[in-house]
Amino acid sequence: MKRIGILTGGGDAPGLNAVIRAAVKTAIYEYGCEVLGIRDGYDGFIDEKGIIPLGIENVRGILPRGGTILGAANRGNPYARKVIRDGKEVTIDVSDEIIKGIRRLELDALLVLGGDGTLHIAHGLFLKGAPIIGVPKTIDNDIGGTEVSFGFDTAVNTATEAIDKLHTTAEAHHRVMALELMGRNAGFIALHAGVAGGSDVILIPDIPFKFESVVAKVRERVERGMLFSIVAVSEGAKPLDGNQVFSREGNEIYVTRLGGIGQIVGEYIEKQGFETRVTVLGHLQRGGTPTPFDRWPATLYGAAAVRLAARGGFDRMVALHSGKIVDVSLEEAIAAPKRVDINDDSVITARGMSISFGDE
Ligand code: F6P
Repeated sequence: MKRIGILTGGGDAPGLNAVIRAAVKTAIYEYGCEVLGIRDGYDGFIDEKGIIPLGIENVRGILPRGGTILGAANRGNPYARKVIRDGKEVTIDVSDEIIKGIRRLELDALLVLGGDGTLHIAHGLFLKGAPIIGVPKTIDNDIGGTEVSFGFDTAVNTATEAIDKLHTTAEAHHRVMALELMGRNAGFIALHAGVAGGSDVILIPDIPFKFESVVAKVRERVERGMLFSIVAVSEGAKPLDGNQVFSREGNEIYVTRLGGIGQIVGEYIEKQGFETRVTVLGHLQRGGTPTPFDRWPATLYGAAAVRLAARGGFDRMVALHSGKIVDVSLEEAIAAPKRVDINDDSVITARGMSISFGDE
């Protein structure tokens, strides 16, 4: 193995730089291998200025930094790129440009750090001949085939801190505080932060909710003398028999942009006579320095991805199973995205402690 490339696709997640650093160090120290960084996800292959050499000096000091030194692109589906031709917007497939780029740069492997959409693209590129290795990245923690994707713990920390802060002001003013959190298809962030922060109601995409049931919980608390409530809402939470709220169409790779359900839940509660304020935590959950817990899988994944490449284990993704680094096929990782198991201990424990999921 002489030369590998690394790219970071999709939305960023705390820990991307830790993966890059570990991969570069392992490639250079263990294999004497050259590393090229591809800027802005797959776009780097299409743009002339998209390639940067990565040496030890380039990754010095990046371990605690959020974001990604390579840049990321969240809407760059190469199979369906929108371009203007003769004054009209048309969709073209530029995936062959990526294959040509990989060959032109003589990459023996391409490490793709990404979530569901980015890994879908990566698998397609493998089928066209690219030597792909996947690394699971998402704050949502919803990638299949692995117990953990880095970035999740940092997001849960940020969300829990927000719930803690909302608690004090909610109690002081006898208010309901609705907090909208990220979590498009799976409610892991709201569930974990909600339990860790002591929320009274947790609404997640995995358990459709009823508005009346949310209000019933708030009312029950007031009747028991607890004049405030905290409601943690995943952005992908769905009312039973209702739709997700979203503001922009997606496409076959990247899904719709969500947002707004926290406001709707908050307004409903307020209309039932309980003073309510709504907070949307948004991209604060994606920013900032990765927690030590996230730096740990990130570092292990970065090193393991390089070793997997050296073994020729293409079309596979590094993963964590029972604390051990393993690898799984990309097909498996993208075929069965992870969802909150409603029979899992976390849900059962929360219910047992009188946390409402709005479904009873
Ligand atoms: O997938 C990670 C995530 O943060 C989701 O939780 C959220 O819906 C989405 O990305 C936001 O994407 P963007 O930064 O493009 O708005």
